[in-house]
Amino acid sequence: MTATDSQALDRELSLMEARMLEHAAVKELAAFGKLLASKPLDARELKTFFATMGAFFKTVPTGILALALKISDDWMARGDRYGATAMGAYILFADVDEFGLHDLRNGMQRTHHQLFQELTAHLKVSEADMQDPRYLLPVGQILGERTTEYYRHRSIGEALGFHLASEVTSSEEFVYFLNGFLKYKEHYGVKDDADPVLHFFRVHTVVEPMHKSMGRSMIEIYAAQDPAILKQVEAGAMAFCEGFADLFRALNEALSASAPEARRNVG
Ligand SMILES: [Fe+2]
Ligand SMILES: [Fe+2]
Repeated sequence: MTATDSQALDRELSLMEARMLEHAAVKELAAFGKLLASKPLDARELKTFFATMGAFFKTVPTGILALALKISDDWMARGDRYGATAMGAYILFADVDEFGLHDLRNGMQRTHHQLFQELTAHLKVSEADMQDPRYLLPVGQILGERTTEYYRHRSIGEALGFHLASEVTSSEEFVYFLNGFLKYKEHYGVKDDADPVLHFFRVHTVVEPMHKSMGRSMIEIYAAQDPAILKQVEAGAMAFCEGFADLFRALNEALSASAPEARRNVG
């Protein structure tokens, strides 16, 4: 691959990321961010939010793990006996803190799922609420199932696109969540800006940009060998964005009934 080829590839991936950021997914997410900033969520709204997001979050860490395995196997099958795991590492990296392995000098840390559980328990959203169809909107389950399908069962190109879009959107998503909950600290029983109970949101505001750039590097490595993979990457990215747009559109509708202002102000 020449320097010009790699510049062209870099440009193409930047354009793809720009398309993700222009997608309705990001607009719905921004609308949700405004909604969170416009009012504290009541008990029913908290249950709806966490049950629906939880059905999606549930599938992410193992999906990433499956993709890292698939990529290692792929390079092993190509005959790269000693480099295959180094390839899988680009994706596995995004799972290190999902699994609580990011600070081993201090022992095993809590996983993202455990941090999520601590947050929902603090907000009095029970396990039963998380499964209750009055709160769990079908879009959460649909995106969860799609996550499992794309990471585990689709082509590597589609899975990489899905993963990239997930990291691109999470970089923004958790900033909205964190700010919304910090704005109404007292209502949510949050002591101060550093209260560990919001750690689930806080960690994601820190780690996602690096996850995104590693995922993108992996796409560059594949595309340098076969540029045709970019079509699959784009298809996977759009599949994620559409599911994500549906998720936040439904949450905005379900949660904005008592806050019409938040909805109206959205561009
Ligand atoms: Fe996470
Ligand atoms: Fe991530």
